[in-house]
Amino acid sequence: MKALTVQPLTAGSARLDDVGEPPESDGPVVVETLAIGVCGTDIEIVSGAYGWAPPGRDRLVLGHESLGRVLDAPAGADVAKGDLVVGIVRRPDPVPCGNCAVGEWDFCRNGQYTERGIKERDGYCSERYRIEPDFAVKVDPALGTLGVLLEPASVVAKAWEQVERIGNRAHWQPARALVTGAGPIGLLAALMGVQRGLDVHVLDQVTTGAKPRLVAALGATYHTGSVQDTGNTPDVVIECTGVGSLVFDAMEHVAPGAVVCLTGVSSGGRCLDVDAGLLNRSMVLENEAVVGSVNANRRHYQAGADALAKADPSWLEKLVSRRVPLEKWSDALDRQPDDVKVVIELAQ
Ligand code: BGC
Repeated sequence: MKALTVQPLTAGSARLDDVGEPPESDGPVVVETLAIGVCGTDIEIVSGAYGWAPPGRDRLVLGHESLGRVLDAPAGADVAKGDLVVGIVRRPDPVPCGNCAVGEWDFCRNGQYTERGIKERDGYCSERYRIEPDFAVKVDPALGTLGVLLEPASVVAKAWEQVERIGNRAHWQPARALVTGAGPIGLLAALMGVQRGLDVHVLDQVTTGAKPRLVAALGATYHTGSVQDTGNTPDVVIECTGVGSLVFDAMEHVAPGAVVCLTGVSSGGRCLDVDAGLLNRSMVLENEAVVGSVNANRRHYQAGADALAKADPSWLEKLVSRRVPLEKWSDALDRQPDDVKVVIELAQ
């Protein structure tokens, strides 16, 4: 069968390979892959900056945002032949640490977790894959091919969960949220902010195209320029760019008691001039919290699925800005100015 593979940490090594059928050791559920979403992490892996092959191998099957149809499942499993499913990305570490032991692998404490398509486990961008029943999440058939948005939605649902858990340390009645970055993560963060009844503001660089339109269609406000230009200070910031200067700007311009959630994985090597004393002082005097958030556990996939089910399907449809057949995979990884979410299609 065909699979999109890459030699991690080697730029330009991605190619469409002929590989064997998925090994039984991956799990008893056999899935036909329908679609794979492409995200910044995939582009980083393909550029040679991130990713780990499975132990003893050079190459990794790419793809962690998936949608598939079950071809075969053991009797008694929660998924059955014909179901649409999304594969969970992370697997708990083998020790396991306290968090992995209770299904909170997104909080793995020893770094020995694995991730399909990213870290030491083949991903889903092959014509078929196998998976453990507990790591296949059933998708509402009403969502159809938009189910491919569930993995990024799970990551955003986790970020909102963190914000709310921290916010609820005291009386918490947030009114205004700022989302930095209008990529798929930022737009899904804006969607979930609007669903919570917040006055949502989204900051990005582009002035035309799908992003401003998608933000306006949510009833949120789109801004370009600096964090200060977005107006009143927010109670919640969901930072989705990983751009250091924006991260610090966002931390400096928040309402008392605000929660700033960082979701963008940045590369190192850039230094900034920051008035650390002033930042410390305002964070202390105003009880501000900054929290990093990565990955998602099963509860977050459920929360992401609920958010997608409540969203306007025509809005979600516009998040998928390009669909590319597997044979043209390199077009999918080649970022275009008006891209939001690009999807590789493997089957109908
Ligand atoms: C994925 C997460 C993963 C993270 C770090 C993201 O792109 O969506 O599931 O944990 O990368 O590898």
